[in-house]
Amino acid sequence: MIKVGFIGAGTVGTALAVRFFQKGCPVVAVSSRTLTSAQRLAALAGDCRVCRIAQEVADAADLNFITTPDDVISRVASEVRWHAGQNVVHCSGAHSIDILEPARQLGAATGSFHPLQTFASLNEAMDNLPGSTFALEAEEPLLAMLKELASLLNGDWVELKPGDKVLYHVAAVFVSNYLVTLVKLGLDLWQGFGVPPKEATRALLPLLRGTVNNIDNIGLPDCLTGPIARGDLGTISKHLNALEAKNSSLLTTYKDLGLQAIPIALTKGKIDKHRAEEMKALLKK
Ligand SMILES: NC(=O)c1ccc[n+]([C@@H]2O[C@H](COP(=O)([O-])OP(=O)(O)OC[C@H]3O[C@@H](n4cnc5c(N)ncnc54)[C@H](OP(=O)(O)O)[C@@H]3O)[C@@H](O)[C@H]2O)c1
Repeated sequence: MIKVGFIGAGTVGTALAVRFFQKGCPVVAVSSRTLTSAQRLAALAGDCRVCRIAQEVADAADLNFITTPDDVISRVASEVRWHAGQNVVHCSGAHSIDILEPARQLGAATGSFHPLQTFASLNEAMDNLPGSTFALEAEEPLLAMLKELASLLNGDWVELKPGDKVLYHVAAVFVSNYLVTLVKLGLDLWQGFGVPPKEATRALLPLLRGTVNNIDNIGLPDCLTGPIARGDLGTISKHLNALEAKNSSLLTTYKDLGLQAIPIALTKGKIDKHRAEEMKALLKK
């Protein structure tokens, strides 16, 4: 099986290394900014050599993962004397393979392997990684290798072209980071009626889980519920008035998201075009 190496032993590098190793893929070498991180990864990934510099990893592995912060990937790639026959990928969601140009110019095959997942800590990363979708960029035969690794992690994959990467990442920000932000906005409103954040989180979580389940089981547009889906102008007006009375900065966010929800409601079919226009006018006021 393909021998993999890691340059950068943080959350993603370590989680990938551990999961590959557990699936029988040899993790042969690792280097990091600090020895401690490299040693931690090596201790979890079988017969893995701790290297002082990235060059030693590149010389030992068939496929090299640069799992450093995005801002240093290019510099790290340019510090290695690559040659034809070597493969190097990064795991960034926002960058295309262009940032590995120094390696490509020296003859290495370059790619990206982005786990479409959120990793707040190493344990979470190891739990959430299997079954994730991976965004892949590469040419054959590296592309086939990356598909094999995604399958090894019971994951699916999507192939992206360099021009797709930024908007692909914007989508991930909406679905993950801004979902967290929306929950925070809800919690802030609960502070107004005296429920501490921990309790409020516990109370809101079943709603959040129910919503995700509905997206999964029923799908869009039918999973949209609430005043916009029903065309309840009176309720929407009450919401707007309440936010306005508090001089809340959430008023524009509420209006913007409401305007985005109207086309979903229309497609669901519970409201007609006339009601959609009325809601639009109210939300644009
Ligand atoms: N976290 C996520 O949710 C997530 C999800 C998908 C993709 N990604 C991508 O995965 C990649 C890694 O992210 P991460 O969350 O794992 O970051 P991270 O936990 O901060 O880990 C980055 C590691 O890179 C090492 N490093 C920093 N500068 C280095 C250098 N010059 N040479 C060698 N190693 C260096 C650091 O090593 P030391 O510990 O030794 O200082 C650190 O452990 C990024 O491209 C990121 O965009 C992250």
